[in-house]
Amino acid sequence: MMNRIDVHNHFLPGMDDGCVGLDDSFACIQAMVQHGYDRFFLTPHTGCTEYGDVTPQQTRRAVEVFQREMDRRGVAAQFRPGGELRLSPQLLRWDDMDRIPTYGLNTAYCLADSWEPDWPHWADEAIDFLQGRGLTVILAHPERMDAIRANPALIETLADRGVLFQGNLGPLGGSEPEPIRALAEQFLTRGLYFMLGSDCHRPDHLPTRLAGLERAVELVGRTQVCTLTQTNPAKLWV
Ligand SMILES: [Fe+2]
Repeated sequence: MMNRIDVHNHFLPGMDDGCVGLDDSFACIQAMVQHGYDRFFLTPHTGCTEYGDVTPQQTRRAVEVFQREMDRRGVAAQFRPGGELRLSPQLLRWDDMDRIPTYGLNTAYCLADSWEPDWPHWADEAIDFLQGRGLTVILAHPERMDAIRANPALIETLADRGVLFQGNLGPLGGSEPEPIRALAEQFLTRGLYFMLGSDCHRPDHLPTRLAGLERAVELVGRTQVCTLTQTNPAKLWV
């Protein structure tokens, strides 16, 4: 039995475009528990307009309720709050660091995403802003970002600035078109990922995520997948 930690998912029901109810969450988590996961950071979208602006404090309260519900259903797993912070120009005006969702809300690691087709100057400024406040920025699913597919050297530039990368299991398991799958495999085999996450939103995402876990083992071996799903995520679970 493994002790994997999922570092990116949308299992908290009703918070964003993820699970719509507890039954969906339960189905997702049960399947992942059967594949060696026993700890989950719950990472709703934060700081973006599409889903309302969930604060870390709201996430913390929701995770407490969620843990009790999963305990009641007999799930052998632990849950902690986090968030997926959208990089934006607005971020640069935040003066309240309590709005930044760090892993566990007790570490200096912050998961961030961007869907900009290019890499605007304010994205660099947002990273400077976060790093200037002592945070290590972990960029979610670089393989899915148009800006990185258009300019593959961007990932090196970001790595040189101390940004870490979280790869998604889905593309490795066939959830995305071929160019994204190929880039995910390339980043994985080049050792660019600090960790792998499911980014699972609902039960119909499970097959590709679980296939991605197997594919990762085929590509880089069990020891490296253990580093990406256990050892490195455990640095955030403190
Ligand atoms: Fe996500």
